[in-house]
Amino acid sequence: MKLNIALLPGDGIGPEIMEQGMKAVQAVCNKFGHELSYKHALVGACAIDATGNPYPDATHDICMQSDAVYFGAIGSPKYDNNPDAKVRPEQGLLAMRKKLGLFANIRPVTAFPSLLHKSPLRAELVDGADFICIRELTGGLYFGRPQGRSEDGNTAYDTCVYSREEIERIVRLAYQYAEKRRKKVSVVDKANILATSRLWRQVAQEIAKDFPDVESEYLFVDNAAMRLVQWPKSFDIIVTENMFGDILTDEASVITGSLGMLPSASIGLHTSLFEPIHGSYPQAAGKNIANPLAAILSGALMFEYAFNLTDEGALIRKAVAASMDAGIVTEDIASNSKAYHTTEVGDWIAEYIKKA
Ligand code: IPM
Ligand code: MG
Repeated sequence: MKLNIALLPGDGIGPEIMEQGMKAVQAVCNKFGHELSYKHALVGACAIDATGNPYPDATHDICMQSDAVYFGAIGSPKYDNNPDAKVRPEQGLLAMRKKLGLFANIRPVTAFPSLLHKSPLRAELVDGADFICIRELTGGLYFGRPQGRSEDGNTAYDTCVYSREEIERIVRLAYQYAEKRRKKVSVVDKANILATSRLWRQVAQEIAKDFPDVESEYLFVDNAAMRLVQWPKSFDIIVTENMFGDILTDEASVITGSLGMLPSASIGLHTSLFEPIHGSYPQAAGKNIANPLAAILSGALMFEYAFNLTDEGALIRKAVAASMDAGIVTEDIASNSKAYHTTEVGDWIAEYIKKA
């Protein structure tokens, strides 16, 4: 098969971890006889520096012409510490999500047996946890207008907007996933306060009727946040709006040991996108210490979701599990054993795939 990928390393640790991801992707292509071609493109702070635009048209064109977008991270302290900056790297990410129509962000959370001791929770609470958070990605507070400041600068406002159509398509997707899994959907909202949440719940209840063998539950987001740390195994599919999904998935990721482990797939109207859920971690950039596993696992999702190549994805996952069992891991998840560099982990995994 021919795989045309848009490669967008982005900022901070993005380039280092994506280099490891590409080693694994290339190794899998060699193994299974796929022809890989990829085009580099800029997004985020590096794109602002080069072109003034965090998501340049040239990047969008490359994404639209590719079969999948493989993306690292964006963000830079240069902009984080400057609230007056007119253009921000995050705008590039939002523009990319919106223009590619990526309305569903799929974040699988699975406990890794070799990482149980790294979890802030007791091992028995985490062992066996396996759920998917499906986060709405192109609506809500992230995109609602008006957004801004009053003239005197002393009042600020954001707007949360959701249409029935936006809710329907993501909730339906969640139920379709649940049908193939343990058949349970947890709809997370704040329907006791927010009008948008009440519409979410109403639409979700209507859609639930089309899936009689799937169990539904409706949780307020504060309660869901608590349950995630109290009883993570109670979840199968969580579906929620943009902002709640952003917050809950950071929480969920550390339950399994490290933010550096969680991959994601964003799917929607045009080319799908695969990215680690962590950010650009500027403190670690260039030090060769960042955990590349979320990026590598995002490569596995790319094979599965964009190309329907499940054996290929499974081999990457197996290689990642083997690297953890062998203790070939970066400092964030190394226990008493030696910590390895980003590139060493990438090389080990590529070699494992080659020999498999
Ligand atoms: C994420 C990130 C982004 C988000 C940031 C970098 C804009 O936190 O993908 O979860 O808030 O969506
Ligand atoms: Mg986030």
